[in-house]
Amino acid sequence: MAAEIALGCSGKTIPAVGLGTVADPRVDAETTKAAVLEAIKAGYRHFDTAFAYGSEQPLGEAIAEALSLGLVKSRDEFFITTKLWCSFAERDQIVPAIKMSLKNLQLDYIDMYLIHLPVRMTQQMTKTPVPREAIEPLDIESVWVAMEECQNLGITKGIGVSNFSCRMLEHLLSFAKIPPAVNQVELNPFWRQKKLREFCKEKGIHITAFSPLGANGTRWGDNRIVECDVLDEIAKARGKTTAQVSLRWVYEQGASMVPKSFNKQRMRQNLDIFDWSLTEEESYKINQLPQRKGSTLTSIFGPHDFLLEMDAELKQDSEA
Ligand code: A2P
Repeated sequence: MAAEIALGCSGKTIPAVGLGTVADPRVDAETTKAAVLEAIKAGYRHFDTAFAYGSEQPLGEAIAEALSLGLVKSRDEFFITTKLWCSFAERDQIVPAIKMSLKNLQLDYIDMYLIHLPVRMTQQMTKTPVPREAIEPLDIESVWVAMEECQNLGITKGIGVSNFSCRMLEHLLSFAKIPPAVNQVELNPFWRQKKLREFCKEKGIHITAFSPLGANGTRWGDNRIVECDVLDEIAKARGKTTAQVSLRWVYEQGASMVPKSFNKQRMRQNLDIFDWSLTEEESYKINQLPQRKGSTLTSIFGPHDFLLEMDAELKQDSEA
């Protein structure tokens, strides 16, 4: 079972390692459900999904099956994160959107509901790039009021954001009645987010890492982590794998993480990072690795003006 990390001053905790459920290329629902059941047996309790991933339904089925089989005693033992998609990022659409996710997941409440991206889509688009007229910056003030409403209604225990920069968080904190508990961002030895980590620590915002293994095999990732010579040298010396070295580094930054693996051995390996630590020299070597981000807003939506600016801003939080 993964260690737990405290979430700000809320008294709640989040499992340090959860299972990411975004598969690229997409897999069928049965494959996702089987992987989640395998992960539950291995000890995973945090599952990260999103409306946009198409994995809410199979995750919900796996949770229901695990409960009915008695693999897990009660729903409260799970920590479920899901995300508001950009096409519902409008004041009146947010409570209906979370209710749709609850239905998909067969749950009464979410543990952490995140704004997926700081972007609003004015039409539901399934193909990318998205035309400029179908996309605009998020009106965070009105969106956040509805996110707070979700928490006040008890249909989510916590609210947060994903892919937000220091500047966006600062703005959000200036008016939020409920501050964001989590910012889920890309974080790994090749994208270290130094400025963002320091900012979030100061403000009591917990960071969850996506792509903690560099998302190898997806359109937005590559093998820069699993085949990195520096990580491999550390791994060999410590009897670990490059993946475990990467995840251990993320853990030592105080972040939780949601590595995706639908493979029985690898998902178990990814949970097994708590009985050792990196030396100062090993951490130093990792901190010298060249910085390279995998996913960008422009690669998701297209090279539109305000997205180029946001990407530059997000980049500064890691390179500063
Ligand atoms: P698989 O599902 O076949 O295990 P990220 O979590 O950074 O998005 O990376 C996910 C990718 O890394 C997936 O392709 C996944 O493949 C692979 N992966 C997950 N765990 C490991 C591991 N321990 N060693 C090598 N590759 C891994």
